[in-house]
Amino acid sequence: MTERKRVTSTDCVQTGDDKHKAYDAVPMPIVQTSTYTFEDTAEIVAYTQGTHPDAERGEYGRYGNPTVRAVEKRLAALEGTEDAVLFASGMAAVTTSVLALVKGGQHIVLFQDCYRRTLEFVTDVLGRFGVAHTLLPAGDVAALPGALRPETRLVLSESPTNPYLSCVDLERLAAACRARRTVKSMIDATFATPVNCRPASFGVDLVVHSATKYLAGHNDVLAGVVCGPAGLVSMVRDLRGVLGAVCDPHVAFLVGRSLKTLTLRVEKQNATALAVAERLEKHPRIERVFYPGLPSHASHAVARAQMSGFGGVVSFVVKGGLEGASRFVDAMKLARIGPSFGGVETLVEQPAVMSYYEMSSEQRQAVGIADGLVRLAVGIEDAADLVADLEQALG
Ligand SMILES: Cc1ncc(COP(=O)(O)O)c(C=O)c1O
Repeated sequence: MTERKRVTSTDCVQTGDDKHKAYDAVPMPIVQTSTYTFEDTAEIVAYTQGTHPDAERGEYGRYGNPTVRAVEKRLAALEGTEDAVLFASGMAAVTTSVLALVKGGQHIVLFQDCYRRTLEFVTDVLGRFGVAHTLLPAGDVAALPGALRPETRLVLSESPTNPYLSCVDLERLAAACRARRTVKSMIDATFATPVNCRPASFGVDLVVHSATKYLAGHNDVLAGVVCGPAGLVSMVRDLRGVLGAVCDPHVAFLVGRSLKTLTLRVEKQNATALAVAERLEKHPRIERVFYPGLPSHASHAVARAQMSGFGGVVSFVVKGGLEGASRFVDAMKLARIGPSFGGVETLVEQPAVMSYYEMSSEQRQAVGIADGLVRLAVGIEDAADLVADLEQALG
């Protein structure tokens, strides 16, 4: 198990530094190549037989790239795991990792209130290939031992979840999986970031992120990462080489650059989101606020025990249903309307007309998405400015 220490700004700037820096440059340069050349046949033979003096040199871009590798090492260091592997998107990271761990005839346990494409992948796509699943209510770890079957290979949860920010007791989840030696645990910690919570330090096997969000942090690139023990990460990396969802070196460079300010950004976003959540909870036009930093949140005790900050996303229900929420969202001046989070610019979205637009109001109610639900993803604007903007938008 890894140490449960805070990720500091010093870690963000100094950890995982690579030894392969060219031209004495400060950051790892962007090695923009699709393939790598060899001096002669003897060098190729040394490489393929594993006796090449530079074990990390490249062969072909789908199998590795020095810029990407440097960022993978930094991410592993920040997450406190042995290794990490980068992908072209968060969904590429999720799907490739799950495919590396399960096959037809086996079974996955998935906690609900997760990113809907992860749900779709497990229930619809894998279902077509004979992989069974059980869905458990978000955070309900007590139900986990009873849901495990002899053929279960993977337990997957987000923590915090999307959009209600439920947190799962990571230590209990990891222990329940370890009690069955064949079951691996995987946590999508996109909402947490290693600054707020490091699931591997609680015994979780694999930690996945949509790096598109806080890790890249500027609403400008798509990327994903899986962190974990060297053996498991190597299995996932091998499958990445087959499925092909590699991270482009230029994107990796941008992720690596953003990681240097991760603690600065996330700590500011934590503080702003808490201020916003506390203000919204007292506002007469707000029906309910979901933020794990509030004592009113069902996961507050779990979040306090395992997180050092509660994240930059606040979900809340505006009175007056879809119309009330739309009036509020349209009146906000600082927040841009868009379906993401974790960037420096504040974004706001109404799940009813964005992620869940295909559903009727009744169908949304059935999956727990209220018509007046709003998800506010705070950026790095000053808290006082954002609170003032919310106040004027609520009228
Ligand atoms: C928690 C979570 N995991 C995974 C993903 C997928 O990430 P990406 O959009 O980078 O493919 C998302 C996207 O919103 C997400 O919110």
